[in-house]
Amino acid sequence: MKKKTLRSLPDSQLCSKRVLVRLDLNVPIDDSGHVTDDTRIRASIPTLEYILKRGGRPIVLSHFGRPKGKPDPRYTLQPVADVLESLCGHRVVFCETTDTDEAIKATHELPHGEILLLENTRFLVGEESNDEGLARTLAELGDLFVNDAFGAAHRAHASTAGVARQLHPAVAGLLMERELDYLGGALADPKHPFVAILGGSKISGKIDVIRALLPKVDALLIGGAMACTFYKAMGYEVGNSLVEPDRIDLARELIDTSGTRLILPHDAMVARNMDDGSNAHTVKRDAIPADEAMFDIGPGTAQSYARAIASAKTVLWNGPMGVFEKPPFDAGTLAVARAMADSTDHGAITIVGGGDSAAAVTGARLAARMSHVSTGGGASLEFLEGKELPGVAALDDA
Ligand code: 3PG
Repeated sequence: MKKKTLRSLPDSQLCSKRVLVRLDLNVPIDDSGHVTDDTRIRASIPTLEYILKRGGRPIVLSHFGRPKGKPDPRYTLQPVADVLESLCGHRVVFCETTDTDEAIKATHELPHGEILLLENTRFLVGEESNDEGLARTLAELGDLFVNDAFGAAHRAHASTAGVARQLHPAVAGLLMERELDYLGGALADPKHPFVAILGGSKISGKIDVIRALLPKVDALLIGGAMACTFYKAMGYEVGNSLVEPDRIDLARELIDTSGTRLILPHDAMVARNMDDGSNAHTVKRDAIPADEAMFDIGPGTAQSYARAIASAKTVLWNGPMGVFEKPPFDAGTLAVARAMADSTDHGAITIVGGGDSAAAVTGARLAARMSHVSTGGGASLEFLEGKELPGVAALDDA
């Protein structure tokens, strides 16, 4: 079901209104409280600008970390307020509470052209349990609701799903709309050849995505340590590589039922351990030494995956090909990222699921050369699995 969007609202519904906006400002910070990746903050700005340009007054809600329903200074959104202010060029007023009379007063007093950011919604009992009373209180913070927090849309929280049931109109923001268009478009109506690349360490985390994508794709390329569970199912020895013994039967079933669409790496980059990169070497997949482990796809596989990507019209990628944080085990992941960037240049739709693959693409400075890099980790995975996202489901139908 298509959802109502911010762009569909007449300007009169925004002008002078308190627009309650749920963002996903759950960004990584270092020990001294500095934001180390501001991608999600940047991705939120177009919606705020859109509202401000139409005379609306953005009142922002977000969760941050997992403080478990009580205030915890380690998880204050204050540092995020500072970064948001410097990136968007508008004054950001920070309110230390979220569901109080003081917070409601702050929403009414917010001057035009400024943004109000309320404290972490996960400081509130009832946020994660989607308490109806809390959702009703949050609804008093605005005159309408915009959910732009795609990254948190898989959570049925009071500030995502709950408030959307209490405050109308409840519409999708620009980022949410873009995420749903790209990810939904790839699932519903992909241009063929459609190639998906799935990586990561465990089949268990990706099994539902594999099952959902297999009937839709022309090729599903597997990378990461999860390849080793498939190798085991094929009867190969994998040395000290990570294997999920309880998923070997499942891997065998997937190999047997997928025809030629499921493609596994034919060579592997191995070493004694992931800190022993200087001794890394390439072996065929059936020759992984007993005292070594696979930490990346091999260069032959990287080349053939790059060729498959080059011939595709839609490419969807989720999960790294190896331990990309530790060169030389980043080579497979970088090869996929570069092949996708080239493919975008040649007219393909290229979509990077969130989480580690998005971090790898950003680290390689290739994000701008993809059609879309999702800001959702768990959310994009659940969406690709075909699950309904509660934060989306609760919005008004178009
Ligand atoms: C994320 O980082 O994936 C979202 O912000 C959701 O955070 P959570 O996994 O703590 O619910």
